[in-house]
Amino acid sequence: MSKRSIAVIPGDGIGPEIMDSTLEILESVGFAPTWVRLEAGLCAIEKGKPAVPEETIEAIREIGNALKSPTTTPKGGGHSSANVALRQALDLFANVRPAKTLPGVRGPFMNKDIDLVIVRENTEDLYAGIEFQPHPDIAQAIKVITRPGCRRLFKYAFELVIEQGRNRLTAVHKANIMKLTDGMFLREFYEAAKGFPTVVADDIIVDNCCMQLVTRPEQFDVLVTENLYGDIVSDLCAGLVGGLGLAPGANIGEKCAVFEAVHGSAPDIAGMGVANPTALLLSSAMMLRHIGEHTLANRISSAVLNVVAEGECLTKDLGGNASTSEFTRAIIESARACA
Ligand code: NAI
Ligand code: MG
Repeated sequence: MSKRSIAVIPGDGIGPEIMDSTLEILESVGFAPTWVRLEAGLCAIEKGKPAVPEETIEAIREIGNALKSPTTTPKGGGHSSANVALRQALDLFANVRPAKTLPGVRGPFMNKDIDLVIVRENTEDLYAGIEFQPHPDIAQAIKVITRPGCRRLFKYAFELVIEQGRNRLTAVHKANIMKLTDGMFLREFYEAAKGFPTVVADDIIVDNCCMQLVTRPEQFDVLVTENLYGDIVSDLCAGLVGGLGLAPGANIGEKCAVFEAVHGSAPDIAGMGVANPTALLLSSAMMLRHIGEHTLANRISSAVLNVVAEGECLTKDLGGNASTSEFTRAIIESARACA
C-alpha cells in the first residue's frame, strides 16, 4: 500500500466539483501525493467503456487507496451501478458510515447529539444483482447471505468498536421474517460476539431500528447490518445529523479501500458551483486515518467543524449561500489557523 499515490475518481454530476475542492484542501495542508485520476460511471459509459473500466480496477488494486466522487446510475434500466461493480470487483466487504452531529448543525427532529457508526455489508444481499423474469408479469431477485461473508463482516465490526473506544454493537436485521438469510446473519453475529466479550452485543429488527433512530438516536453506538438495510438506514442517519452533504463513508476490503461520500451525484445542482464538499472531505479524512496520517486527518476534521460551527460561510444545503469555492477557501483558512 503506497502513501505516494492515491487513486482519484472524479465521477459524475457534482463529483468533479467536490473532488477539486477536496484535493485543493488536502494539498493546502501538505498532503500532496500523486493523484492518479481514473474513470468510472456515466463519464466512462459515454466513452463506450464499461461503468468501471478494467484499468480503473487494476489501478486501485495496485495503489491500494482511492478517493471516489459519486457516479450516476440510471433508474430502472440502463447501465448497472459503478459502485456495486467496484465494491464487488475489489471485494470491498465493509462499508463504514459514521453519523455524528456537527457543532452548530441541528437535524430536523431533535436537539440530541448523535455519534454512531453504521457498518454495512457491501457485497451480498439483494445487491448481488441476481434478477430474472420467469414470466412477463413476474420479476424476481435473489437475496444472498453467506456464512463467510457474515464472519468477516462481524470480525471487522467488533474490531472497529474496540479500536474506536466504543462499547456496543447492534445487529440490524429482519430475522423474524427472513428466517434463513437474516436468520444466518443473526446467528453468526452472536457466534462472533463470543470472541469479543468486552463489547455489548445486541440486535434490533430493522423497522423498529428506523423508528428508534428518529426518536432516540443517542441510544445507539455501532450498528452492523446487511447491504440493503444499511443503504437505507445510513441515509436516514445522514438526514438526522444535517443531511447528505455531511455524511462520509469508507468501503473497506482486505487489500484495498475506496473512500466516498454517502450521497449521490446530485444532478439537480451539478455544474452550479453550490455543492457541499464536506462529505467527500470527511471521507478523505477517513482515508488519511486509514493510512496513518492522523494529524492531517484531525486538521481537516477540525477545519470543517470550525467553519460549520461559525456558520458564516455555509453552502445552500446547510442554510447558507456560499459557493463551493467560497466554502473551500474558508476551510483552507481555518485549516491554516489549526496548524
Ligand atoms: P443524491 O444524493 O445525488 O441527491 C439527493 C439530494 O441531496 C438532492 O437534492 C441533492 O441536490 C442533495 N445533495 C446530495 N449531495 C449534496 C451535496 N454534496 N451538496 C449539496 N446537496 C447535495 O441522490 P439521488 O438524487 O437519489 O441520486 C442521484 C444519482 O446519484 C443517481 O444516479 C444515483 O444512482 C447516484 N448515486 C450514487 C452514489 C455513489 O456514487 N456513491 C450514491 C447514491 C446515489
Ligand atoms: Mg445509498
